[in-house]
Formats: sequence, C-alpha cells, structure tokens
Amino acid sequence: MQGLDIFHIKLVLITGFLIGVSSCLKIGETCSSSNDNCDAGLTCGTCPANDNTRPRCTRIHPIIPTTKVNGLPFNKYSWLTTHNSFARTGSNSGTGSVLLGPANQEDSVTDQLNNGVRGLMLDMYDFNNDIWLCHSFNGRCLNVTAFEPAINVLKEIQIFLENNPSEVITIFIEDYVTSPQGLSKVFNASGLNKYWFPVAQMPKAGEDWPTVDDMVQRNQRLVVFTSKSSKEASEGIAYEWKYVVESQYGNEGMIAGSCRNRAESSPMSTSSISLVLQNYFTTNPNVTEACVDNSAQLISMMNTCHEAAGNRWPNFIAVDFYRRSDGGGASEAVDEANGHLTCGCDSIAYCKANATFGTCDVPALSPPPPAKLSPAGTSPEPSSNSLISKPLHPYYFLLIISTVVLQLCH
Ligand SMILES: *[C@@H]1O[C@H](CO)[C@@H](O)[C@H](O)[C@H]1NC(C)=O
Ligand SMILES: *[C@@H]1O[C@H](CO)[C@@H](O)[C@H](O)[C@H]1NC(C)=O
Ligand SMILES: *[C@@H]1O[C@H](CO)[C@@H](O)[C@H](O)[C@H]1NC(C)=O
Ligand SMILES: *[C@@H]1O[C@H](CO)[C@@H](O)[C@H](O)[C@H]1NC(C)=O
Repeated sequence: MQGLDIFHIKLVLITGFLIGVSSCLKIGETCSSSNDNCDAGLTCGTCPANDNTRPRCTRIHPIIPTTKVNGLPFNKYSWLTTHNSFARTGSNSGTGSVLLGPANQEDSVTDQLNNGVRGLMLDMYDFNNDIWLCHSFNGRCLNVTAFEPAINVLKEIQIFLENNPSEVITIFIEDYVTSPQGLSKVFNASGLNKYWFPVAQMPKAGEDWPTVDDMVQRNQRLVVFTSKSSKEASEGIAYEWKYVVESQYGNEGMIAGSCRNRAESSPMSTSSISLVLQNYFTTNPNVTEACVDNSAQLISMMNTCHEAAGNRWPNFIAVDFYRRSDGGGASEAVDEANGHLTCGCDSIAYCKANATFGTCDVPALSPPPPAKLSPAGTSPEPSSNSLISKPLHPYYFLLIISTVVLQLCH
C-alpha cells in the first residue's frame, strides 16, 4: 500500500462508486433514457399518457415464480404472455416488402424470453411454400403483412429452451395453416419436437396439470395450443379452448368490471377447464397508450377476471408492448397473480421460503419520488445519488463506497 498515494486510491474508489451507481439504478429512480442505466430487469421509461414524464427505472421482468415457490402444478403459476410476439416495431418483411400495419411489441422473441416472457402468441399462415408469421386478414398472408418464416422464431425458442433447462414456454397459435402437416413439419424442422408436452397428458376434466418440476424432469417444456380444432386429431396439437378459458381480446375486452370469454372459449367460470388466459390490449395497438393499459387498469381487470373465472387467477396475462408501464406494469400483475396462486400473498415477492400458505413478508417501503418531472426540469434525486453532493466524513464515505462497489449489479 505504501507505494500508492491516497489520492489515487480515492480516485479508483470514486470511479468504482460512479460505475456502481450508473449501472445500478433501482426501480422508480430517475434514469437517463439516452443511456439506460437501470438495474437488470428494468428499463428507463416514462408514461406521458398518464402525465408521468420523469424518466424512471421501470420493471420489464416479472419474478420467475418457480425460483420462489416450486413443486406446484403448471396451472398454479401465472406467466407473462405477449400478444403477437413476432410483430416487432421497425420490422421489415422477410419478403423485402415494406410492412403495412401496426406492431405489438418492441423487442425480439429472444429478448422477450430473456425478460421473463413465457407465453407467446403467434399467427401462422401458409405462405411462399412455407409457414410464415403474418398479420393479415381473410386468412391470407401477403408480402406487405408477412413478417418472417415461422422457423426463425421457433429456432429462437428452441435455443432458449436448450440454454434454460428448467423453463417452460407456452405457444398460442392463431392458426391459418391449411397445408397438410404444415405445422408439424415446421416444428420438426425447428428442433422443438423433443420438448413437446403431449396432448394426451393434458388434463381434460379440470384436474391439475403435472407439476413444473415433472415437466422439467421429463423435458416436456413446450406447451402448444392451436386455434384449429381439427389439428388435435390430425397432428396431435392441442385445441386451445379444450384446455384454456380465454377472455375477450381488443377494446371489447377492456370494459371495466366485465371479464367475459372470447367467442371460441367456454365461459370463464368453466371449472372443467384448468387454465385461464386473460387478454388485455386494445384493438389497434397504441404504444403511447400501452403504459396506461398495462398498469392499474390491467390489475383491476385481473381482479375482475379472477372473480369471473370462479376465483381463479389468470395463468397467462397477455398484453401488447409488455415493456411499457406506469410503474410495475404487466410484470407487477404477473407477480401479484403468482403471489395469490403460490403462497397466498399479494405478490410473489412477499412469499417466504417453505412457509405455510398465507405467511407473507411484506417489506416496509418508503414512498417513491413523484413520477412527474418537476417544472424546473430538475427532478427529486433518489437517495443514493444525493450522497454525491453531501460532504461526508471520510470513514462513512469509504464504507459507502465499498458497499456500493460490492453491490455492482448484474
Ligand atoms: C412478393 O415478394 C416476392 C419476393 O419474396 C416477389 O417475388 C413477389 O413478386 C412479391 N409479390 C408481390 C405481389 O409484390
Ligand atoms: C415429425 O417428426 C416425427 C418424429 O421425428 C415424425 O414421426 C413425423 O413423421 C414428423 N412429421 C412431419 C410432418 O415431418
Ligand atoms: C394512442 O393513444 C393516445 C392517447 O394516449 C392518443 O392520443 C392517440 O391518438 C392514439 N393513437 C392512435 C394511433 O390511436
Ligand atoms: C426449504 O425446503 C427445502 C426442501 O425441504 C430445503 O432444501 C431448503 O433449505 C428450505 N429453505 C429454507 C430457507 O428453509
């Protein structure tokens, strides 16, 4: 130590401190949207549609429920689901054509999976002698509505399942494929067959599903549903509404206080069907409005659907622009559903290890700083940043520095 002068030690420590702070902003703290410096699982966002303009670290990653409470059946967990997962902002058509029509998400399926999305809604069509992901009308895919060959996204899912051996993914196919064995061929080619959960093992009279642990042990970690009933007999692909009750999608599904089934589904309260899917997104996707829809309103609808479904919390919560929220967003809704489902608490974050159902560990939280940018353009700084401006006794300074350096995120 003798050769080093104290100034340099301080400089190194201060640098470490600043790096620590800059990569480590917590939920609700003021961040910079040009340089996303929020902690893992968060992104820097605003919600101007709710008049909340201060860039805040906002959640995009739900707690993976099996990391907190395991041993439960698949239908005792809730999974974040993206509507039209493949329809990404700024995509070009794989045909080289411009794409007409709106997007529903902002990142790739790989990024969605890495952010904890576990349900994917994919629209599949016959197109160019192959199966494509397409956003179309009258069941026909066109150059200007074709995103990409389905195999591209199926391979992304295959890679994720291979690299994450305890994760389960559910695919909901909006199925326009009429070519014989069209879906089977593309799933075979993607390498996803080996993860297939057999339709014969799906509960048919309202029983529990196998546990997630069992599904993982047997490597049956891909659950696939199709919207075409004939595919169950012809290709062994489960007809969705035999196994899932699903709420109305689009604007009609967003009427406060009402959670009714979509036309193809049995009533939400049908207890002989074990899985519950809640949709909550507008008919015309709207990226600026999504932060409002995905927040308090989504949770309010979740409570409505819980009641409509015979006091069952949704197993799948499907949204557009899942990264957009005014606070906790869709991730928060999923954590709340998982808290109720797995340990009887208001969020899975409050579940205690190995505790009896209903024993919760609710942290005392200080109120977050206001979400609105203050008029002067300056915002109330989070407590960790305010350390920089206050003179501190050197001992505390070093103590804080070492704590912060030890807590480097990611
Ligand atoms: C659609 O795109 C293909 C190239 O993938 C092109 O050969 C074809 O002419 C296009 N069709 C129309 C109607 O633009
Ligand atoms: C898919 O693969 C399975 C097993 O490898 C095979 O039995 C089946 O015939 C294949 N189906 C198609 C349509 O290629
Ligand atoms: C999106 O929602 C905002 C309100 O948040 C509204 O002003 C705007 O017109 C909507 N855009 C579209 C394309 O519907
Ligand atoms: C919870 O139970 C499991 C299995 O019984 C055990 O391995 C683990 O250590 C327990 N965890 C705690 C925090 O008590």
